[in-house]
Amino acid sequence: MANPNKAKAESGFMRWVDDRFPATQMWKEHLAEYYAPKNFNFWYFFGSLAMLVLVNQILTGVWLTMSYNPTAEGAFASIEYIMRDVEYGWLIRYLHSTGATAFFVVVYLHMFRGMMYGSYKAPRELIWVFGMCIYLALMAEAFMGYLLPWGQMSYWGAQVIISLFSAIPVIGDDLTQWIRGDYLISGITLNRFFALHVVALPIVILGLVVLHIIALHEVGSNNPDGIEIKDKKDETGKPLDGIPFHPYYTVKDIVGVAVFLFVFAAVVFYFPEGGGYFLEKPNFQPSDPLVTPEHIAPVWYFTPFYAILRAITFSLFGLDSKFWGVIMMGASIAILFVLPWLDRSPVRSMRYKGWISRIMLVLFAISFIILGYLGTQPVSPGRTLLAQVCTIIYFAYFVLMPIYTRFEKTKPLPERVTG
Ligand code: HEM
Repeated sequence: MANPNKAKAESGFMRWVDDRFPATQMWKEHLAEYYAPKNFNFWYFFGSLAMLVLVNQILTGVWLTMSYNPTAEGAFASIEYIMRDVEYGWLIRYLHSTGATAFFVVVYLHMFRGMMYGSYKAPRELIWVFGMCIYLALMAEAFMGYLLPWGQMSYWGAQVIISLFSAIPVIGDDLTQWIRGDYLISGITLNRFFALHVVALPIVILGLVVLHIIALHEVGSNNPDGIEIKDKKDETGKPLDGIPFHPYYTVKDIVGVAVFLFVFAAVVFYFPEGGGYFLEKPNFQPSDPLVTPEHIAPVWYFTPFYAILRAITFSLFGLDSKFWGVIMMGASIAILFVLPWLDRSPVRSMRYKGWISRIMLVLFAISFIILGYLGTQPVSPGRTLLAQVCTIIYFAYFVLMPIYTRFEKTKPLPERVTG
């Protein structure tokens, strides 16, 4: 028996559907009667933009797959074929490669918003944890996708990253071989990365995005003031500071989409290689296991973590610097997962936190950007020292958070959202 409390259309075709599938109920719950805080600002564009970029990646990815050849013999040539011979193949490829960069730009800004407004704090911990799982899956997706053009940087970048696993004591070498499926990176590795990139990981990412949104709609959105809009309701039970997501935020998000598409199209049409940062120069040469490129660097969105890896130059407890580098690089991502439990502040948003929290967040952001730059550059003693300082600041932001958020003086929260 269908639940009589569910919202249904009065009559007609929609009523027929509603008796079989909760279409009207879902429309109301997630759009027309999802009350979002009325003070969303610029920073709230990036969730919907991340969804847009995800759709772009899936659509262009499907079209690329139609002409791509996932073999060591054919991969590089098939990309050239897509670029030169397939109708609008160049556009599909640039939409996909620029889309990867756009994905990380959007997701980094989306995460930073969460850090600024304390959106990870109770009761939104799971939104954040699902978000972090998306981020991990996204990194794996981008890493595997980068091997597919089978250029020099595809090959040697994968070589550097996969060989990191060999730093793990005892099982390291076997593990590396298991990941590659061969004694060196070969067509076998390319094949499995292709399968994971086009089938497995997109399914995981889509599933996680659904969980992310379900968790968000269960507790409701945070806002720039970090106060709960559900605490102040009118006589009909609607939050006084809430407005229906549709039409108010659907319309607002369209403005964000329009501006984003202008910038995105400008890059796709006029700057697709991003000066060697989005598509790296050695990747225009076919992969050659016998010739190592002079300078191997990952794509920009991985470079902060690569810089942390290289910043560790000491050995400890009989384990070499490579081992500790891998541990610190892993820790720099893992620590983000527990952020909701590190922040002990009585308030959520930076607007009401004390000056130590603000300074720490600014220092964190600056050190992340500097690490990102250093990861693109060849090592030198000066750069290594700077990377070490930035690594310390990066970790200090998290490790000291339980202390500075608990003891600093916060500002009083407003009764209602301020705009
Ligand atoms: C494919 C990637 C992602 C998609 C499509 C996505 C989508 C969304 C959407 C549509 C919203 C609601 C609108 C908004 O608040 O902007 C949202 C909120 C949120 N997301 Fe994501 N997200 C993604 C990745 C992430 C990541 C990597 C994190 C953090 C690790 C994260 C953390 C959050 C948080 C904390 C909120 C609640 C914000 C608030 O209410 O203030 N998301 N996400």
